[in-house]
Amino acid sequence: MTTTLITGANKGLGFETARRLVEAGHTVYIGSRDAERGRRAAEQVGARAVLLDVTDDASVTAAAKTIEADGGLDVLVNNAGVENRTPDGGVVGAAEVTADAMRAVFETNVFGLVRVTHAFLPLLRRSAAPVVVNVSSGLASLARVTAEGTPAYGYPGVAYPASKAAVNMVTVQFAKAFPDMRINAVEPGYTATDLNHQAGVQTVEQGAEIIVRMAQVGQDGPTGGYFDAEGSLPW
Ligand SMILES: NC(=O)c1ccc[n+]([C@@H]2O[C@H](COP(=O)([O-])OP(=O)(O)OC[C@H]3O[C@@H](n4cnc5c(N)ncnc54)[C@H](OP(=O)(O)O)[C@@H]3O)[C@@H](O)[C@H]2O)c1
Repeated sequence: MTTTLITGANKGLGFETARRLVEAGHTVYIGSRDAERGRRAAEQVGARAVLLDVTDDASVTAAAKTIEADGGLDVLVNNAGVENRTPDGGVVGAAEVTADAMRAVFETNVFGLVRVTHAFLPLLRRSAAPVVVNVSSGLASLARVTAEGTPAYGYPGVAYPASKAAVNMVTVQFAKAFPDMRINAVEPGYTATDLNHQAGVQTVEQGAEIIVRMAQVGQDGPTGGYFDAEGSLPW
């Protein structure tokens, strides 16, 4: 039996990933920073709910204790993420971005991901087939963001792509340090969720595809890579 934790899984891509992994036979914990939203989401798909705010040490430690007491963890999907937008939904570009805005995004997308991974490492190391999926973004790719004429080139935001580029580096360094684990970064593609005020062009079913696939990667599968549904991406 495979036990899987997905952070920020009360809605969006994380929720769809939870639904699909329950269907695939995993015991799934829906991590949610709000107890009631997590409980309702878990009930809908036959998952378990665990209170987990990735920015809060005590919350992450308590979640790790709960899951350890229930028997441990095989798969960690670091999905919780935020993007800083103006109140009317606009992207904050280089002319407006502040250190505080950067810090707020890094707090969840980067430090939160490291906090959760660090707390669950002892559990993952006890698994026979440990897997970590870090939900990154196509905007993390320096190659893409500098390819003139592409949508990634045209995206003016600073904090979000910088945070996801950091997620990619964290992925590579953890993958090298733990060769017995499969640790990969994935790009779901531009998906209609609350993160982008439902402006994405894909459905959550399409977006979750690569997350679900990498959560089920075998021990002979890739590690330290960066993938979307079509294959490997340039860093
Ligand atoms: N949608 C896209 O086009 C797209 C593209 C590439 C990558 N991604 C990535 O995909 C992941 C999922 O995003 P999404 O599009 O599904 O957005 P979403 O619907 O806004 O979901 C984000 C989830 O993260 C949770 N979250 C935020 N801060 C948290 C915290 N401090 N602790 C725990 N959970 C927290 C949210 O919880 P609340 O409900 O409590 O806010 C929510 O459950 C993110 O990492 C995002 O960067 C999305």
